Amino acid sequence: MRKIAIKDIRKPDYFYTEAIKTLRTNIQLSGKSIKTIMVSSCFPNEGKSDIVLSIAQELSSIGKKALIIDGDIRKSDFAIRLGVEEEVVGLSQFLSGQAEVKDLIYSTSYPNLHIIFGGPIAPNPSGLLSEDLFRTFMKEIRNYYDYIIVDTPPIGSVIDAAVIARYCDGGIFVIEPGVVSYKLAQKCIKQLEKSGCRILGAVMNKVDTKKDKYYSSYYKHYGGYYQKLATSEQTEKTQ
Ligand SMILES: Nc1ncnc2c1ncn2[C@@H]1O[C@H](COP(=O)(O)OP(=O)(O)OP(=O)(O)O)[C@@H](O)[C@H]1O
Ligand SMILES: [Mg+2]
Repeated sequence: MRKIAIKDIRKPDYFYTEAIKTLRTNIQLSGKSIKTIMVSSCFPNEGKSDIVLSIAQELSSIGKKALIIDGDIRKSDFAIRLGVEEEVVGLSQFLSGQAEVKDLIYSTSYPNLHIIFGGPIAPNPSGLLSEDLFRTFMKEIRNYYDYIIVDTPPIGSVIDAAVIARYCDGGIFVIEPGVVSYKLAQKCIKQLEKSGCRILGAVMNKVDTKKDKYYSSYYKHYGGYYQKLATSEQTEKTQ
């Protein structure tokens, strides 16, 4: 396995860090059978990839063996996000038969944290993800990790997240307040649930506690980020 140096250039934020810890605890409390977790949202830019990275870092920091899979093979940006300069092999190359599993997984500068990059943009991402190869891979890889966190494209735009959801034990739905209506969030969550994936909860991300009195009174303890507990119904109360 190749080792790769990664850099998280985000500025540490106390409240964000505390909220991620709460999210991690809630993931652990979701049950032993929840190992592979996909993260999606209705729209682009709601903060999915950021949350994938934060959860995986947090889990690995407490000694859990964690793997990030960049399942957004339409717009894979983990290598750029993490300041990786060398060329890396990614999921799209594996799914299209151009790489083997042994070339795919990178250990990182963080102890216990491994990563699979998305690879070059494939012409038919949902087709590749629907292949038996991906199903078999997901079934096999879970035996080597405590948690696998899978980044996906927004479910409101493309079907890939629903395809990935088929092979995951649970899902986390990211919501940027003011961007997504309650009705649309419910529709997207239902679509993921139809794939047989249990939605563990919703994360309300990018909450500006200074600007928004509603959130500042309710969620002041969570800084710019708020994590709902467990059920998709709970998203209703946050809209
Ligand atoms: N809690 C937060 N507070 C402020 N900014 C945030 C927060 N989370 C993410 N961002 C910013 O929002 C932008 C989008 O984040 P990110 O790339 O994680 O979203 P995404 O949902 O993965 O987008 P895409 O659907 O395009 O892949 C980034 O510039 C990121 O730094
Ligand atoms: Mg992303």
